[in-house]
Amino acid sequence: MASRFKLAFAVCFLLKLLDFCRGSIVGVCYGRNADDLPTPDKVAELVKLHNIKYLRLYDSNIQVLKAFANTGVELMIAVPNSDLLPFSQFQSNADSWLKNSILPYYPAAKITYITVGLEVTENPDNVSALVVPAMKNVLTALKKVGLQRRIKVSSTHSLGVLSRSFPPSGGAFNSSHAYFLKPMLEFLAENQSPFMIDLYPYYAYRDSPDNVSLDYALFESSSEVIDPNTGLLYTNMFDAQIDALYFALMALNFRTIKVMVTETGWPSKGSLNEKAATPDNAQTYNMNLIRHVINDSGTPAKPGEELDVYIFSLFNENRKPGLESERNWGLFYPDQTSVYNLDFSGKAAVGISSLNGTSSNGTTWCIASSKASVSELQNAVDWACGPGNVDCSAIQPSQQCFEPDNLASHASFAFNSYYQQNGATDVACSFGGNGIKVDKDPSKESDMQMKLRFRETRKTLKRSKNFRLPLAFLYGIGSADEIL
Ligand SMILES: *[C@@H]1O[C@H](CO)[C@@H](O)[C@H](O)[C@H]1NC(C)=O
Ligand SMILES: *[C@@H]1O[C@H](CO)[C@@H](O)[C@H](O)[C@H]1NC(C)=O
Ligand SMILES: *[C@@H]1O[C@H](CO)[C@@H](O)[C@H](O)[C@H]1NC(C)=O
Ligand SMILES: *[C@@H]1O[C@H](CO)[C@@H](O)[C@H](O)[C@H]1NC(C)=O
Ligand SMILES: *[C@@H]1O[C@H](CO)[C@@H](O)[C@H](O)[C@H]1NC(C)=O
Ligand SMILES: *[C@@H]1O[C@H](CO)[C@@H](O)[C@H](O)[C@H]1NC(C)=O
Repeated sequence: MASRFKLAFAVCFLLKLLDFCRGSIVGVCYGRNADDLPTPDKVAELVKLHNIKYLRLYDSNIQVLKAFANTGVELMIAVPNSDLLPFSQFQSNADSWLKNSILPYYPAAKITYITVGLEVTENPDNVSALVVPAMKNVLTALKKVGLQRRIKVSSTHSLGVLSRSFPPSGGAFNSSHAYFLKPMLEFLAENQSPFMIDLYPYYAYRDSPDNVSLDYALFESSSEVIDPNTGLLYTNMFDAQIDALYFALMALNFRTIKVMVTETGWPSKGSLNEKAATPDNAQTYNMNLIRHVINDSGTPAKPGEELDVYIFSLFNENRKPGLESERNWGLFYPDQTSVYNLDFSGKAAVGISSLNGTSSNGTTWCIASSKASVSELQNAVDWACGPGNVDCSAIQPSQQCFEPDNLASHASFAFNSYYQQNGATDVACSFGGNGIKVDKDPSKESDMQMKLRFRETRKTLKRSKNFRLPLAFLYGIGSADEIL
């Protein structure tokens, strides 16, 4: 119990700069190209039941937004390719879409990303030139209502944006896309938005089984592929594809843009010559994928780098054209039963980062002082989450940093967020003397050190008359005796 407490506490504590309490996350894509899917309300139940906390949509369907209101599930919504023309032409189109179709459901529907355009380089109608103007108009619309920091704007791509992806160090964008990619990369860098890529080792294996081993595609390989230019060793294709993208970005000198995998997965069924499309392989791929990203292990070129991924897809979609596999990417059948078992409970895919690999050097944290009184802490939290402009949604009930549910850790969350947002200066950790700076990664404390520090806080809280929570709940999980 103590270690669970420690993990939950520390997870929400070790905020890497502005990435509030995130770490790598695993979400799921909710494609709806089918005529037999459950209603959005039922889907929201299913998603909650399986502890899926991040969902990617392919449009901004109002029924779906309503169904996910107040579920805490973070949503990535989309402006589809068919809307790029009006969105790129007139600012007023983006403004009125936001005002009439999105804001009425926000923030109950917790939208955090808008993808403008979907794999435009694959689109038969050449709409590529419209993407960046549309992205800019959507961003401007968000700015008008002050949401540009809460909701990020980007666009998704297929790996086809690269003309070369092997070896990873040779990764390069196809220069015939430069006319729209270059301004897009500038936009992403300027607005700290991620580059979104859809990655499918499945296709690489299917189309080239002689050159790609199944184990390598499934994260099961015992041998390594070496990049002759860098000497980096690759044990799976997923990493190799991501690094190809990193190298392509670096080649154009865009070093700060993060990569986000907006689709990846494995089909559970295919046509005759798609022998690798089986439930076993799909389960293996997705399970290994989750394990691989959730601990922030990064890629060979970027070890320790956070990487958010979305698994494609929630449901099998019976109206998708093409080979049999196209209709069989789902984790669930339309009747909501699982195609194969994938653990979305517990730590695996709930958006909790593991703490291994977080280095403490150069980093300081600001936490609640154990000497602060409850009322002082409460006032400071109210200030930080109000005028201080900290996004405190994560410490609301049922959100990822609510537990342990006690004022000391909620205050520490708010203090540290404020501190990191405001340049990590001494002044930004003052809070009327109730904040203290620590330069040691709190997750690396020994159990004994943590217990001692909390015993102090507990005493302080106990002293306060108006502290209403029973002691057993003081640290959120389990009884206080188990912890102390
Ligand atoms: C798409 O349109 C842009 C300009 O609108 C043009 O530069 C580009 O060559 C076109 N691409 C293709 C594949 O037709
Ligand atoms: C680059 O993109 C163009 C236009 O889509 C395509 O015709 C060409 O085959 C691509 N080149 C490579 C090397 O993928
Ligand atoms: C395998 O790689 C070789 C050389 O790298 C290439 O000539 C061949 O076409 C590839 N085979 C397939 C099925 O892609
Ligand atoms: C993270 O997961 C990968 C894949 O399961 C594993 O190889 C690696 O050792 C893990 N890293 C840490 C730091 O736990
Ligand atoms: C990562 O954390 C887990 C759980 O705390 C632990 O079992 C594992 O050994 C750690 N891995 C490394 C490389 O520290
Ligand atoms: C940061 O910490 C790592 C180990 O966690 C160490 O190898 C490295 O030298 C440290 N860097 C600095 C600048 O202190």
